Parts: sequence; C-alpha cells; structure tokens
Amino acid sequence: MAVEPAPEQIIVSSGSPLEGTVRVTGAKNSVLKLMAATLLAEGSYRLSNVPRIVDVNLMAELLRAVGCRVQWDTNHTAELHIDVPAEITPVAPYNIVERFRASVVVLGPMLARCGEATVALPGGDDFGPRPVDMHVRGLTELGAQVEVVHGNIEAFTEQLLGGRVVLEFPSVGATENLLMAAVAAKGITVIDNAAREPEIFDLCCFLQSMGAVISGAGTSTLMIEGAGTTQWLQAADHTVIPDRIVAATYLAALGVASGEVFVEGARYDHMELLCAKLAEMGMILTGEADGIRAISPRRLDSVDCSTLPYPGVATDYKPFLVAMLATASGVGIVTENLFPGRFRYVDELRRMGADIRTDAHHAVVRGVERLSGAPVRAHDIRAGAALTVAGLGAEGPTIITDAHHVRRGYENLVGDLESLGADVRTGQAST
Ligand code: UD1
Repeated sequence: MAVEPAPEQIIVSSGSPLEGTVRVTGAKNSVLKLMAATLLAEGSYRLSNVPRIVDVNLMAELLRAVGCRVQWDTNHTAELHIDVPAEITPVAPYNIVERFRASVVVLGPMLARCGEATVALPGGDDFGPRPVDMHVRGLTELGAQVEVVHGNIEAFTEQLLGGRVVLEFPSVGATENLLMAAVAAKGITVIDNAAREPEIFDLCCFLQSMGAVISGAGTSTLMIEGAGTTQWLQAADHTVIPDRIVAATYLAALGVASGEVFVEGARYDHMELLCAKLAEMGMILTGEADGIRAISPRRLDSVDCSTLPYPGVATDYKPFLVAMLATASGVGIVTENLFPGRFRYVDELRRMGADIRTDAHHAVVRGVERLSGAPVRAHDIRAGAALTVAGLGAEGPTIITDAHHVRRGYENLVGDLESLGADVRTGQAST
C-alpha cells in the first residue's frame, strides 16, 4: 500500500526586519493562458520567465493530454518549450482539469482550432462557486453551440462568426476564452466590458505576435479581426510579465516585518492602486526601472479597501491586506466584490489572535499590537501565503499545514523570505 506523504508545513517565527533584494517570477495568471493560446497554431513555442510552479506543471500535463510536447529548457530554468502538432485532440479530461480552475481557458482555443471542444468543468480554489455562464454565453454569441452536460462543457461550431459580446461583468477568464475564440471567427468581434488585467494585455501581445489582429489591448473594448480560421496563425516566442501577486506578497511581508526591500522585476505600473494603499498605511514605495523599492519604517496605519476588477485593488491581494491590517494601528474595513466566500483564512488568522469580524462580504479588522503564533491551515494558495505573512508579525512560531497549496503559485516563497532575513522554513507534519 502506498504511504501518503506527510502534509507540508511552513513554519514562521517573527523577528528581524527584512532587508535585501528579492526577484519576482513570471505571472502564473498570464503564463497559464499563454500556454493555452499555443493550442491555436501548430509549431514550436518558447516561453521565457515561466515560474516553476505546480499550476504550470498541471497546464503542461493538460497540453500533453491533447497531443503537445512540453518540456523545460535544460539550460534556462525559466524557459518552457511547447511543440504543438498539426492535429490536437480537443478534450480536456476531468482528472487534470479538476485540479486547477485556469484550465477552462483551453475551451476557446480548442474550439477555434478544431471546431469542437470538450472541457470538464474546472475545480480550483476553495473560496466559493466559480461559474462559467459568461464563457458559455459569449461563445454562443460567436456562433458556437455550447452545452454543460455530464460534468463537461461541450462546444461545437461549423464556423465561429464575429459579433459584439457585452460581458455583464469584466470576467478575466471569459474575456480570455472569447479573445482566443474570436481570432478564428469570421469577421470582426468586439468584446465590451472586457477585463483589463495586465495578464490580458500580455495575452493580447502574444496573440498579436502569432499573427492575430487585435486592437484595444489593455482597455475594456477589445476588437478582434478574425479570418475565419486559425490557419494563418503561427508559433511565437514570448516573455511572461512579472507576477504582481507574488510581488504584493513580498511587499506585505515587508509591511508586517518592517525593513527595506527591493522587489526586483515588479512592475509599479501594474500595481499602482495597491501601492497607493500601502503608502497610505505608512510604507514608502518607489517604482524604479527594474522593480519596486519599498521601506516599511514603523507599525502600519489601518486603511479601508475594496476589491475591484483591474485597475482596482485585486481580490488576490486581499488576504495580504487583511494580514497586514491584523497588526496595524486602528480599524480597517475590507470589502470583497468578486468572490464572496473568500474569507476562510480569516478563521485561521483569528486563531492567531487577530480581531476580525466578517459580515457578508465585509471584514472589519481591528489591529492588535502583536499576533500570537499558532497552528493554522492553508485552504488555498493566497491564504497560505497570507498566513506566512501574518506569522512574521506574531509572537512565537506559526505552523501552517496544507502548505502544498502555496507551491501552486509560488516558486520559492519560503526561500525568498529567508533570503530577506525572515525566520521561515518548511517542515512536515508528523503522521
Ligand atoms: C482570474 C484569476 C484570479 C483572480 C480573478 C479576478 C486566473 C487563473 N485567475 O480568475 O486569480 O482572482 O481572475 O481578478 O487568472 N463569474 C461568473 N460567471 C462567469 C465567470 C465569472 O459569474 O462565467 C464571476 C466569478 O464567480 C467571480 C467574478 O465573476 O465572482 C470574477 O471572475 P473572473 O474574473 O472570471 O475570475 P477568473 O478568471 O476565474
């Protein structure tokens, strides 16, 4: 009988201020979509600045399942080679898809390339329902027949047709699926109320370098001139943008632990509103050509904050903001406008002595002088990272179980924080 490996732990002790330089990896939420986009055209692709994280390996597994060859460059640790064959099998199987939500973005490119696609309904993070109705409606408006049956999204089309799609909410995933389908539609597609996240801009740039004609990249109105087929698209190379959520994690760690850090590779222009919030809390941030320099000289002040689609403060930053507010001076109210259930880590912070009250999609955080280290559980990637951040402001060790979630989105969270002087290490729970 196979023995289950012991659950992974992150063990954090508070202590010294952080100091030094930490480099941000490529963005998870970009590279997964770029990998999906390669399905649009046969050929050899080279993606650079790719993070070595579990979700990238899962997307690689998915691409292999449809017929592609995917391998890491033997000399460049952050380079991924993808060979897409002339024929792909447009089926994304449940055993892979259920392990990560972003897998749903293979739907658009597979439908565009093959005229049909079967994608198991995705799984993903543990913070409430994540419907795909906007993906389905948008593709239907472009001339596909789409049904959700037997746990699969099944899509079929003789010919995708350009048209105007107005999203009722600027969904990141729906915008991406529609964008990738529209490059093969006949005629012009306009996506209104499109999401504007930097990762979507990155996807537009990649598609353009493959030969797609897209205007409005980075705005809420995308216009795609489709040629009725994917035949004219070709393979391309691309460098992934830096991960703004990983960068935010290191800024939050600094906010809690104090000190001075250079977050190398971080793009200030991708994180402007977050940086403004951190400045309001008392941090000093400077955007430089190759990163963000940040100083956290004292105990932070509380602020109120609402999550919104880009360029608003991202929902992914919220666990870090709550962790920072937990030891800030005063009271801060955090309002979640995207994923109502995204407060599960709050119970864990309370175990550490945080004074947080939640009511529907609001959290009222009364800062305490110091948290007290405790055993806690990571329910998803960001929760795990936020608990690590909170542990830096706690008396005594914080032991985070189920820390394997963190590896879905961070190449080396523990090593990076350690390199800045934090007392953090990995461990294994005794079984
Ligand atoms: C992406 C990001 C995630 C981020 C989120 C919002 C990836 C892999 N994940 O997720 O980290 O938190 O954007 O910035 O890139 N919705 C519907 N119907 C749909 C689609 C979405 O109701 O068909 C709702 C969702 O439940 C949610 C909101 O719209 O309440 C935003 O979701 P969406 O922008 O689609 O997020 P994802 O693309 O899943």
